[in-house]
Amino acid sequence: MKVTWVLPGGEEVVADVNEGVNLMEAAVANNVSGIQGECGGSLSCATCHVHVDAGWLIRTGEMGDFEEAMLEMADGEVTAASRLSCQIDASNDLDGLRLIVPVAL
Ligand code: FES
Repeated sequence: MKVTWVLPGGEEVVADVNEGVNLMEAAVANNVSGIQGECGGSLSCATCHVHVDAGWLIRTGEMGDFEEAMLEMADGEVTAASRLSCQIDASNDLDGLRLIVPVAL
């Protein structure tokens, strides 16, 4: 699947990601600035915070309760489109997905 990350300055990083890889791992592998994935994807940091582009949220699903609690410590504005990208796995259903890296506060 193809994923595009939109950086705060408007620059885009586009990558092909294999099915099953979570999108934090994919961001780190593609040097997406602003995505660290400090906890390795164990849902115990919020350094993989992204906003899912409008229209895609219905396919990625919204944040879960645990994710919402963890997002309280996220850098960047938390909105209804916020997700922890380690909790989204690449799949062909998400081909073309656009993720926005929030501006750090
Ligand atoms: Fe830590 Fe996603 S990498 S919560």
